[in-house]
Amino acid sequence: MKQIVVLASGRGSNFQAIVSAIQEDNIRAQCIALISDNPLAVAVDIARDANIPAHVLDFLSFPDKSAYEEALLYLLVQLNPDIIALAGYMRLLGDSIIQTFPDSIINIHPSLLPSFPGLHAQEQALRYGVKIAGCTVHFVTKDMDNGPVIMQRSVPVLDDDDKEHLADRILVEEHKALPEVLRLICEDRIRREGRKVTVLKNPSGFP
Ligand code: GRF
Repeated sequence: MKQIVVLASGRGSNFQAIVSAIQEDNIRAQCIALISDNPLAVAVDIARDANIPAHVLDFLSFPDKSAYEEALLYLLVQLNPDIIALAGYMRLLGDSIIQTFPDSIINIHPSLLPSFPGLHAQEQALRYGVKIAGCTVHFVTKDMDNGPVIMQRSVPVLDDDDKEHLADRILVEEHKALPEVLRLICEDRIRREGRKVTVLKNPSGFP
């Protein structure tokens, strides 16, 4: 069974979606840890409620970013997960972590990448005036929100949308996409060649 570590910085609703999917046996995996850079993250409470070890590396208690990254890398190497899922993790991962876990780190982003990378993606989409928005699950590479796309789910942008309503509707799709990608990875059904990611239809041993 594959072992997943989740990194989250805040509210943790995507983390909760992963935990629920594992509890409901939709993902055949074990979530071995939640790591947060924020001691006040609700995600930490969600982990404790689910009996998942929560590790807080309080970013503000480190002298600088490289000291924080070093501690994070050390912890990840100790945990040795098969998959690292960034679920609302609000920092860029350093190169050393990305290189240590090649093809093993995924992120959820609330836009249809490559449109609207970075912060406030839903607001960027509204301001631009697109008619379709959505979310993207992608592999993490050294460039922010730029790794190979694994899955996207779309939502229409409504004429009277504001950023909160649009974000809420995108979030509903995030909670489907991220667990679904984790399920597929755990079933060894994701293949990547360069930027192109495909889902195997007939994995051996799975219906
Ligand atoms: C989500 O919209 C996610 O796509 C983005 O940050 C938000 C985190 O929400 N990266 P939550 O903490 O999972 O509720």
